[in-house]
Amino acid sequence: MKQGIASFNSGVHPERKTIDLLKHDNFMRCENPGVALVTGASAGIGKSFAHQLAFQGFNLILVARRKELLDKLAESLQQEHGIIVEVLAADLSKSNDIAKVEKKISETQNLDVLVNNAGFGGSGKFSEAPIEKEMEMRAVHVDAPIHFCRAAVKRMVKRGRGTIINLSSLASFFPIPGAVMYSATKAFLKEFSASLAMELFGTGVKVQALCPGFTQTEFHSGRHNNIKKFDKSAVPKALWMKADEIVRLSLAAVPENKVVFIPGFKNRFLLLILNTWFGRRIAKRRLKKMGRI
Ligand SMILES: NC(=O)c1ccc[n+]([C@@H]2O[C@H](COP(=O)([O-])OP(=O)(O)OC[C@H]3O[C@@H](n4cnc5c(N)ncnc54)[C@H](OP(=O)(O)O)[C@@H]3O)[C@@H](O)[C@H]2O)c1
Repeated sequence: MKQGIASFNSGVHPERKTIDLLKHDNFMRCENPGVALVTGASAGIGKSFAHQLAFQGFNLILVARRKELLDKLAESLQQEHGIIVEVLAADLSKSNDIAKVEKKISETQNLDVLVNNAGFGGSGKFSEAPIEKEMEMRAVHVDAPIHFCRAAVKRMVKRGRGTIINLSSLASFFPIPGAVMYSATKAFLKEFSASLAMELFGTGVKVQALCPGFTQTEFHSGRHNNIKKFDKSAVPKALWMKADEIVRLSLAAVPENKVVFIPGFKNRFLLLILNTWFGRRIAKRRLKKMGRI
């Protein structure tokens, strides 16, 4: 559903007028920013991508299941930034809905940005979790991004410009008992993005695998029925980051050609620790104490 049309020169937010004076006021450093499609835009990191891309003048296509939240967000972004926002309600665990979004991408001629962000966590032993939930995770984290990247790359290469950001995770770098499918699907996204970036070198299309650590969003809330409420107190406060900061760092890293990108010093430090024998022992003990394995 089209949420209405607004010109870039009308109803512009006062802050936006200031940055309009700069030659390149968007992370792609391009004239006339086109369309950015963000999956999982109803909450957390995806919502933050929507805000920051809108501020930079991109028109948006917002995808998630909770249409009412997307409609509300679309309305406020249109009013605040004078951009065009379209809402596409889709459940990316369903192949029909994946096809619907894929078609939208193929038809969007001025697609500049694709953010494959939709995702959810899982907990519990692999052999005990319902197979349907594991397959849903595969569809959202793997099948949907494959279809969307394929459609986007065709468009973007023709246009000679574009950015694809795939939400991987720090969890993609090491094994996690109790989240077998999660770490494996995120590892797929990381490796897939790295190879795709290399294949697209010289075409003007950039790819990033964004690998955040603990981020304050709805992710750990237990909202999804296959994830137990995560005991946040088990993770030191200092290790948590805000979604806005993750997104700001991610967009800033694109022109620097950082393909596998870990946002924040604390996450890079955490990865170093978790890749030691000692670090893994501590992590496993914490997971046991939290009743996740
Ligand atoms: N938070 C962290 O600590 C963390 C760390 C590393 C990586 N990540 C990754 O970052 C991404 C965003 O997570 P977040 O932390 O922002 O979590 P969040 O606040 O729970 O947001 C998840 C988003 O994904 C959407 N989504 C989930 N299942 C979907 C489905 N079947 N179809 C369509 N949309 C779906 C949700 O929208 P609806 O419910 O409205 O459909 C929501 O907009 C995920 O891929 C996650 O794996 C998060």
